Amino acid sequence: MFDLLIKNATLADAKTQVSIAIKDGKIVDVGPRVEGEALEAIDADGNLVTPPFIDPHFHMDATLSLGMPRLNESGTLLEGIALWGELKPHLTIEALKQRAHALAKWSIAKGTLAIRSHVDTSDESLMAVEALLEVKKEIAPWIDMQLVAFPQDGYFRSKGAVDNLARALDMGVDVVGGIPHFERTMADGAASVTALCEIAAERGLLVDMHCDETDDPMSRHIETLAYETKRLGLEGRVAGSHLTSMHSMDNYYVSKLLPLIAEAEITAIPNPLINITLQGRHDSYPKRRGMTRVKEMQEMGINVALGHDCVMDPWYSMGSHDMLEVAHMAVHVGQLTGVSQMKSMFKAVTENSAKVMHLEGYGLETGCNADMVILQAKDELEAIRLRPARLFVIRRGKVISKTEPVVAKVDLDGAVHEVTFQR
Ligand code: FE2
Repeated sequence: MFDLLIKNATLADAKTQVSIAIKDGKIVDVGPRVEGEALEAIDADGNLVTPPFIDPHFHMDATLSLGMPRLNESGTLLEGIALWGELKPHLTIEALKQRAHALAKWSIAKGTLAIRSHVDTSDESLMAVEALLEVKKEIAPWIDMQLVAFPQDGYFRSKGAVDNLARALDMGVDVVGGIPHFERTMADGAASVTALCEIAAERGLLVDMHCDETDDPMSRHIETLAYETKRLGLEGRVAGSHLTSMHSMDNYYVSKLLPLIAEAEITAIPNPLINITLQGRHDSYPKRRGMTRVKEMQEMGINVALGHDCVMDPWYSMGSHDMLEVAHMAVHVGQLTGVSQMKSMFKAVTENSAKVMHLEGYGLETGCNADMVILQAKDELEAIRLRPARLFVIRRGKVISKTEPVVAKVDLDGAVHEVTFQR
């Protein structure tokens, strides 16, 4: 007897009429002819069933703090960092946790069941670290959360940051972060990458740095990050988040850089919603788009995942933690409108992100965790186009969120037409 049987599902590779059988929180059978009784059944009605969405780059400590203590008037990254600095002295563990828990419910409703969150370690008290370590434990039944020790004010630039980061890792933070482009000089930036990668190698941890989040084409810390990854044998364990300066780098230099990133098996994590709004702020016209070279990296075989980065915080006033919104923006900003390119952006918010987080049991094969989302859409392209309702969000075989199908009723002189925007 299965615990749950999902019938009439469509999978991302256009397999239709698929059934998924679940027992004890695991997928025990998948295919067109799954036989057996189940305690509960869901008819997916031909809709797309996908493994959960994943956000591999987020800031849970700052989320939902929009307007505290004031709004970002210039809309720039630097005013955002300054604003966060103004807010920090007023933070409390309770308020931090409350906002994180509120966001987690949004994430679940949108089918985002794994989150890698950076946590600011600049503050001597490490209050945000303490709060998010508790949140991580409390939401573990529903969301896989990873924390990155993030020296927001600079690893060398800010007094006490070296010690604070080490203490955060001692407390149980999972991943080593950094912000080399925010250090005072290029040399300090490069030295911070080396120091932080060495810490990760010594402690056996993953690395995920905010790297070159600037329009300055001479910001080349990704080169050092790739070099150190190889030198320290960290291949496949390092991510470069943002990498926006690459959009403005010299093409010859990039032709030499991309093979190095590929050899180091670094995952690139662009954050298209944030990159399109924060970058190019010093430009008049023409104005740069701000997102890194996704297409070129994919062609080199580099794993590209996509992050949301912010929801209603000092840097970004919008968002609902919908990873399909992120994929939608990536398709536009990156001009990734070919069919296979659009599908690759769906992968960027699902399996490519699972890879960078080293998640185990992710996917819809037999033996995987029974975590999945049934969308009100027939395929990946429709999902990105409509960012539709998440009809069912399932975690370890249990439905943890439901949304009714969204249907508009258009009344034209008494003739009522149902509109779902699907062909
Ligand atoms: Fe970020």
